[in-house]
Amino acid sequence: MMDEEKNIPVKNRPKAPTKEVIMEIKDLYKSFSGHKVLNGFHMKLHKGENLVVMGKSGSGKSVMIKCLVGLIQPDTGYISVMGKEIKNLDRETLDELRSDIGFLFQGSALYDSMTVRENLEFPLRRHKEKFGKQTDTQALVVEALENVGLAHTIDLMPEELSGGMKRRVALARTLILRPKIILYDEPTSGLDPITSKEIIELMRNIQLKYGTSSLIITHDVDCARVISDRMILLVDGINYAEGSYAQLSQSKDPKIEAFFKK
Ligand SMILES: Nc1ncnc2c1ncn2[C@@H]1O[C@H](COP(=O)(O)OP(=O)(O)O)[C@@H](O)[C@H]1O
Ligand SMILES: [Mg+2]
Repeated sequence: MMDEEKNIPVKNRPKAPTKEVIMEIKDLYKSFSGHKVLNGFHMKLHKGENLVVMGKSGSGKSVMIKCLVGLIQPDTGYISVMGKEIKNLDRETLDELRSDIGFLFQGSALYDSMTVRENLEFPLRRHKEKFGKQTDTQALVVEALENVGLAHTIDLMPEELSGGMKRRVALARTLILRPKIILYDEPTSGLDPITSKEIIELMRNIQLKYGTSSLIITHDVDCARVISDRMILLVDGINYAEGSYAQLSQSKDPKIEAFFKK
């Protein structure tokens, strides 16, 4: 039996997301020199869910995700991850929590002067405590690379990789800490359609294998169609509409329709 909407055999689809909230944002506001970027954005990510946030270029998607991981300080807002409000956490607890959140940056953000292996070892060194002292780093690096089909690139430099391979290595680096939540910022941007499809397929496989919950930021309609359990459309810094891909893509609201025009 096939799930028509997603063209994925039903038996291979992840279990239905639960209602357990694993990450939440309320009333998120952020301005830069008087320019309002986020204007009350809110969201709940449920355990096991793929939540897609779509918004035009420059609409504040990356700012939102950076607020989530503490790279940008919001003006006001409530952010909680796995039941803990991040504002109230001491450094140590925050660091521990961060190791449970994988972040695939827009672009790939690999360290150009490091080999693939060293790029993957980097988060392991930073979060040593997660796996204990006896960790077999080599085995973890190889497993992460195998997950993205690139074990053979372990000793290459980023410049020796294609754009799609770099993105996959970046994904392996995100996976190496076995995050419970993965944040994807434009995972398919700048890639050709076939490579984009491969990345989306990998994202699905990862969710199946590890049961992760994902927040995916994109303006790629195909990506949203294939991967989303639920979507939020971001307009003027706040949620404009929410629903499944099927619901939203049939809307006659001009602002919503605009998102689905190619
Ligand atoms: N660190 C910053 N300082 C000043 N302005 C910023 C900063 N980061 C983002 N912006 C501005 O915020 C707006 C939203 O940016 P961004 O979140 O990157 O958009 P996108 O939705 O394309 O990811 C843009 O106008 C951008 O110029
Ligand atoms: Mg962005």
